[in-house]
Amino acid sequence: MATEIEPGPSPARQVGRILIADDVAVQVEYLARLLARDGHIVFRARDGAEALDVAAREQPDLVLLDVMMPERSGFEVCRAMKTDPATRLIPVVLVTALQESADKIHGIEAGADDFLSKPVNAHELLARVRSLLRIKRYTDDLESAESVILSLALTIEARDAYTDGHCQRLAAYAAVLGAALNLGGDDMQALKQGGVLHDLGKIGVPDATLLKPGALTPLEFETVKQHPIVGDRLCGPLRSLKRVRPIVRHHHEHFDGSGYPDGLRGDEIPLLAQIMGVVDVFDALTTERPYKAANSVDEACRQLEEERAAGWRRPDLVDTFLTLVREKRVPFLDEPPRNGVSVR
Ligand SMILES: [Fe+2]
Repeated sequence: MATEIEPGPSPARQVGRILIADDVAVQVEYLARLLARDGHIVFRARDGAEALDVAAREQPDLVLLDVMMPERSGFEVCRAMKTDPATRLIPVVLVTALQESADKIHGIEAGADDFLSKPVNAHELLARVRSLLRIKRYTDDLESAESVILSLALTIEARDAYTDGHCQRLAAYAAVLGAALNLGGDDMQALKQGGVLHDLGKIGVPDATLLKPGALTPLEFETVKQHPIVGDRLCGPLRSLKRVRPIVRHHHEHFDGSGYPDGLRGDEIPLLAQIMGVVDVFDALTTERPYKAANSVDEACRQLEEERAAGWRRPDLVDTFLTLVREKRVPFLDEPPRNGVSVR
């Protein structure tokens, strides 16, 4: 059973909710008293299974984990926490009497954020705790900011009945094309996020323009052309979205320099943005819009080839994607015609 210890009279610089997991009661009590005296709220667990239980339920800011516990070792518990999305961002400190560097490597491989040696020095403990709590606060702030941005992108999709599922399809198309190009894990992750976030900046485009069935006036088009810049600016403060920003900013550039917002040409255009540009157009062509029916897949392929011939797209990207389409390796193509999205 986890126990909560009331914080002591001395206020901490930053109060944290800290879980101590150790099968040795004396050790738990010693650490708990030190932490409570520093103002922290303490939870206790007597074995690995209970530690996982309390961590999932209480979402502590930090976990001090004894390595040598019966049944499930600290290494195992740490690994389990770091692979569970619900607990993976909680810092874990392994408390160990082990001195071997092999054990430290084992701990790092399990995802441990820091180590403390037994017997635990009180000053060292409190200094590590304060430092990790500070990092946890930043992580929390970043995570909530990222989820706000993602929600915002999905809200924009929901604004327009004609864009239903566009973000999801784009993320899937881009992932298939990226995999065919043998892109690495970071790029693949950026493509998936880029599928959702690429039109984030449309938050700045009025409904009357965004949903207009006919041709846009030059002034309206100028407003639409701002959306990559606005989206890029919204993602700017988030370091976690650094790799997605080039997709957001450059997915409307053309290979011959005739696109927007920066008129980049050729390889000046980031590869991931070029990929997003190809699949964005394909999705627009194969979906219905207020003023036209959805094109067949064959017709969409033909029009994409026209864009390549006109110099708008990098030829090998178009060829690879069309091969994937014709080999039916692209998802969603067998679905009935659906509502569409403008790629103005
Ligand atoms: Fe766009």
